Amino acid sequence: MNAEVAHPRTVAAVAERLGAAGVPSARADARWLVEHVASTVGEPEGAGAALLEELTARREAREPLQLILGSTAFRHLELLCAPGVFVPRPETEVVAGAAIAAAREASAKGRDGVRVVEVGTGTGAIALSLAAEVAGVEVVAGDRDPAAVALARRNLRRVAAGEAGGPLAQGSHVEVVTSDLLDDVESGWRGTVDVLVSNPPYLPARDRVTWEPEVRDHDPEAALVGGVDGHELVDRLLLLAASWLASGGAVVIEIDERRVAAARTAAREAGLADVEVVADLTGAARAVTGRRR
Ligand SMILES: C[S@@+](CC[C@H](N)C(=O)[O-])C[C@H]1O[C@@H](n2cnc3c(N)ncnc32)[C@H](O)[C@@H]1O
Repeated sequence: MNAEVAHPRTVAAVAERLGAAGVPSARADARWLVEHVASTVGEPEGAGAALLEELTARREAREPLQLILGSTAFRHLELLCAPGVFVPRPETEVVAGAAIAAAREASAKGRDGVRVVEVGTGTGAIALSLAAEVAGVEVVAGDRDPAAVALARRNLRRVAAGEAGGPLAQGSHVEVVTSDLLDDVESGWRGTVDVLVSNPPYLPARDRVTWEPEVRDHDPEAALVGGVDGHELVDRLLLLAASWLASGGAVVIEIDERRVAAARTAAREAGLADVEVVADLTGAARAVTGRRR
């Protein structure tokens, strides 16, 4: 159903309210809210009017659209979102894409049971995309936050059941674990990992004052801030990659676009080879990649 065609005046009225509340994508969000109400209760002007009013008021109060709708699209999947867990962003799709390309390459080299570790999985977006798009991968997805672990497990069950755009590709598995960085990843995997991927917290603490209410009031701060300068975890992960990756294994880490030069230097200093920067669809530097020699 296209709400712009079926309910143009309702969409316009909601968009006007959202625009007045400072919502950046007011028209698109209005369309999503009207479509959601129409598909849940039918007519947004009739039986659905009370629900539409409630949801519009929540978005006016700058609650993220994904939390209001309860899910978001990420690559080929539809992932549940929940309060207290970082909402996946479209720019991370290219980070997942780089990890998927690296896993396919490892698989093409004849590696049996390609081993992938994701640090800081949140909803499970990157790990689940990998296991849905690449056959024969063994993925361990960790997060320090129990709320994220619980949500990633729910998303895993849905994707595996083919209810959220899955199912998992043939021979692929995902295990979701509670872990601070790689502390609780099976120690036997050290030196054998084909792909280490992460979208860690990477913003400096001083950025807080610039955040939109959707981020400031709803994303957990521990998912956003990576120490005083922001790249504390990025630097630690690059060092960990040098010991956890197999020879020729790849690391893919989302970074702050303002810290590209520092990320390249940290990757080289960690002893990694083939250090490159991946741009997102807006052209911004989004990830640093490298290989263990
Ligand atoms: C920016 S979010 C990314 C979530 C998800 N991978 C995504 O891209 O949508 C960072 C995640 O890392 C987790 N995290 C933060 N510090 C961590 C640590 N030391 N060890 C493991 N996970 C951590 C947070 O709980 C959060 O879920």
